[in-house]
Amino acid sequence: MTNNMKSFIAQLPKAELHLHIEGTFEPSLMFEIAKRNGQFIPFDSVEELEKAYKFDCLQDFLDIYYQGAGVLIHEQDFYDLTYSYLEKCAAQNVRHTEIMFDPQTHTDRGVSFKTVINGITRACDDAREKLGVSSLLIMSYLRHLSEEEAFVTLEDSLPFKHKITAIGLDSSEKGNPPSKFKNVFAASVKEGYIPLAHAGEEGDADYVWEAIDVLGIKRIDHGNNSLQDDKLVEEIVKRDLALTVCPLSNTALQVVKDLKDHPLKTMMEKGMNVTINSDDPAYFGGQVNKNYEEIQEALGLSKEDLYNLAKNSFQYSLLDNVLKQQYLKELETFYLANK
Ligand code: ADE
Ligand code: ZN
Repeated sequence: MTNNMKSFIAQLPKAELHLHIEGTFEPSLMFEIAKRNGQFIPFDSVEELEKAYKFDCLQDFLDIYYQGAGVLIHEQDFYDLTYSYLEKCAAQNVRHTEIMFDPQTHTDRGVSFKTVINGITRACDDAREKLGVSSLLIMSYLRHLSEEEAFVTLEDSLPFKHKITAIGLDSSEKGNPPSKFKNVFAASVKEGYIPLAHAGEEGDADYVWEAIDVLGIKRIDHGNNSLQDDKLVEEIVKRDLALTVCPLSNTALQVVKDLKDHPLKTMMEKGMNVTINSDDPAYFGGQVNKNYEEIQEALGLSKEDLYNLAKNSFQYSLLDNVLKQQYLKELETFYLANK
């Protein structure tokens, strides 16, 4: 990669739309928090823990990801985790981020919803003020759990409704189709939450159909397997639904064997509106800029392609129109001066 391209990516104003806060948990911070909470981690060092980050599939990763999140107990832990990610955003010119959090990963261990959300939002408020990074929250239901359990989380969230913009659906996809959550999504939408979901990461195109038709989602997380079905691709374009694509996640979880085979360019050629994201950067080998860099090299993307990807990241964000237009203007000014 040329220095010019690297610096173009580094300075490109962008938004991150697919990011799990529990997936930003760097081993060094994990050890620090585990130590102060008197928690045991079954690894002797940061290096040993990093060596365990080799995955054959999504479930392989999820097992270790939930184990890592288990050391988060106090509001300050959630604050430190979130603020540390937001500092990385500032350093990468990520101007806006939409952060997913998994309440059930914590409430199932006896940590209250309030502890989780207050820690995260306090960090977001501080980052808005001190780092100039804006953020919105996406509360994600764990799809390996029941719909009834998701309803409990929806109830838990209501006192904090003003802090949450959208709902998501994540965790083990295969065997847990979107339709399993039809009622809780309908109830969440009634409460004012915007519906989003992971679909077509490991699940087939029929899961994406369900996510858009049964859950009525407004943006598709991953969506890779949409390409199995031409009619679905046509429908996604027609309905103007963006895809939050995560290149390094896809290779880490063997969704794509090699970045050179990544479907991103095909998606763009078919008129799909795609964005670049890091998913779980602490586990998949890179933050969002590394995702831009590696996919640029693998697929030979032009500066114009990268500009369009960044433009989509603001365009398909859940931001109000005033701030959205402000960021789009900032991006355009940068591009015109650096293309
Ligand atoms: N939770 C965290 N990362 C995830 C992913 N890539 N897919 C599904 N659930 C997740
Ligand atoms: Zn994800």
